Amino acid sequence: VVAFFQPKVLAGQHVLVTAGPTFEAIDPVRGITNLSSGKMGFAIARAAQEAGAQVTLVAGPVSLPTPRGVTRVDVKSAQNMLVASVDHAQAASIFIATAAVADWRPAQAADQKIKKDGSGQPPTLGFVENTDILATIAQSSRAKSGALYCVGFAAESHDLLAHATAKRARKGVPLLVGNIGPATFGQDDNALLLVDAQGAKEIPRNSKLALARLLVAEIAARLKK
Ligand code: CTP
Ligand code: CA
Repeated sequence: VVAFFQPKVLAGQHVLVTAGPTFEAIDPVRGITNLSSGKMGFAIARAAQEAGAQVTLVAGPVSLPTPRGVTRVDVKSAQNMLVASVDHAQAASIFIATAAVADWRPAQAADQKIKKDGSGQPPTLGFVENTDILATIAQSSRAKSGALYCVGFAAESHDLLAHATAKRARKGVPLLVGNIGPATFGQDDNALLLVDAQGAKEIPRNSKLALARLLVAEIAARLKK
């Protein structure tokens, strides 16, 4: 289906999407990251734009083309993503957090490449927890007043329904979307589990773009209520 025929269910909305992994530096040549292609978030950005929304896409390091008509902001670390997201959330009416944010970053990044010291002993790395971008924005006054509708994603390896239900409550978001099925990372197909106050509903296996369009329709329907 070409964009022209997409119903403009998000006309007048400003959608902010986070996508992809983050990269947390250890030193200038090394870091830790998460497995995430960014495909689902980019598909959602595209679907939201096709549905008539103004879309800002805050993207971690991915190799994907920017969807047409979407404003893209490239970031590297979780801290970069937090700053960009909080900034752009001020003008948004919908926030969709699909990014696979690194939960921890090295406590300090070395200014220079860490060299082997010849002892055969590996360096010890300390970690600190990254700020939860979704929870931070979901707790903002605009989100609490209903001016900003927040949607979270959940990456789980097991017990998806239980974890997604608990995560929805913990994050304080009206809608939490679980990725169903193992090995969705980098794939073009996926299935989704939508968890809201009413309960859970599955969107069966489909291409990420088709799922993104269905999710956009689900969000638009919830905004009307
Ligand atoms: N998220 C975020 N900022 C973080 C961590 C997660 O915005 N620092 C968002 C993700 O983009 C996703 C949701 O929170 O929309 C859930 O992420 P997930 O990793 O599944 O949950 P966590 O709260 O990090 O819990 P855990 O990884 O321990 O399951
Ligand atoms: Ca996490």
